[in-house]
Amino acid sequence: MKVMVALMAVTIFGLLIDGHNCKIVQFIFGDSLSDVGNNKYLSKSLAQASLPWYGIDFGNGLPNGRFSNGRTVADIIGDNMGLSRPPAFLDPSLTEDKILENGVNYASGGGGILNETGGYFIQRFSLYKQIELFEGTQTLIKSKIGAQAAEKFFHEARYVVALGSNDFINNYLMPVYSDSWTYNDQTFIDYIMETLQTQLKLLHSLGARQLMVFGLGPMGCIPLQRVLSTSGDCQDRTNKLALSFNKAGSKLLEDLSSKLPNASYRFGDAYDVVNDVISNPDKYGFSNADTPCCSFGRIRPALTCIPASVLCKDRSKYVFWDEYHPSDGANELIARELIKKFGFSRVDETNGPSPAPAIAPSPEE
Ligand SMILES: *[C@@H]1O[C@H](CO)[C@@H](O)[C@H](O)[C@H]1NC(C)=O
Ligand SMILES: *[C@@H]1O[C@H](CO)[C@@H](O)[C@H](O)[C@H]1NC(C)=O
Repeated sequence: MKVMVALMAVTIFGLLIDGHNCKIVQFIFGDSLSDVGNNKYLSKSLAQASLPWYGIDFGNGLPNGRFSNGRTVADIIGDNMGLSRPPAFLDPSLTEDKILENGVNYASGGGGILNETGGYFIQRFSLYKQIELFEGTQTLIKSKIGAQAAEKFFHEARYVVALGSNDFINNYLMPVYSDSWTYNDQTFIDYIMETLQTQLKLLHSLGARQLMVFGLGPMGCIPLQRVLSTSGDCQDRTNKLALSFNKAGSKLLEDLSSKLPNASYRFGDAYDVVNDVISNPDKYGFSNADTPCCSFGRIRPALTCIPASVLCKDRSKYVFWDEYHPSDGANELIARELIKKFGFSRVDETNGPSPAPAIAPSPEE
């Protein structure tokens, strides 16, 4: 009996000093679809969501850095997994304690898998840059809780990698970028996949074990792409590129998951569902699937939503919030599809469910 108690005491003490009590948090790498405020602090970036009416259906309704009227797909998925919403890396109030409690979101509007993507936005974090910032976070946490506890913390964390659309929309498909004439459709996809493979292996070497990669939707149907043709139809070639990206991405992740030790690396996309919403919006409770809810009168495309823009009457009925980005309602649908595909469970399942916050606290300023 005494031995047992002594053993238990040692174990409990061991757990504490080992940092076994660290929370499971998430680290998010992405573009404007996942940005929660990094670009707000990149003062020279042209990709900004810092003016009304961004954020109108989120928290206090003020712009919070999300390129949407409400939540991002990663917000909704994280809530469903029982994970807290990680603050933006550049949030000045970010501390080691906050990182241990909530993780970090490195996503940046205009960013891509490739370094050269989105150069026209002047400032943005590409995926390589985001991983570099994550390495900095690791150094901070190691010095705070020790190498061993930090290793466990980073092994147990969940990782989201959600980029790719800018590599097409704001790179390959624009003749001002040299990638557009250096590659053809197939060699460009190969180039992206080689780059992504190196980046995911790098994340694995840094401790990422449970990682989800979000695929692309029918990006040829975003309002900005539709206005390229007089008919206003979806851009077929752009959609085909998204499908090729998804096919290659899915194969890459399957391959990595089987080769990298202890890795659960998954790929999921919501292409088919979003495509169906766009063809049959009524079926899903939407009334408009081709123009943005927030637009500047009849002037199209208005590249961002601005205070002088006019909003649609019912935001829940629009698939697109602005020229590029889905509305909160569409993000909910995309998130539900991804949850189904990833088939994951809540991180707190063994401890009983704890309700996820319906509305994330808005950043204090
Ligand atoms: C991409 O940018 C990172 C810095 O963020 C740099 O370290 C890396 O060498 C670059 N890679 C390529 C292929 O240009
Ligand atoms: C894989 O997991 C096992 C058991 O938890 C551990 O001993 C091993 O070090 C892990 N390997 C890597 C590369 O993470």
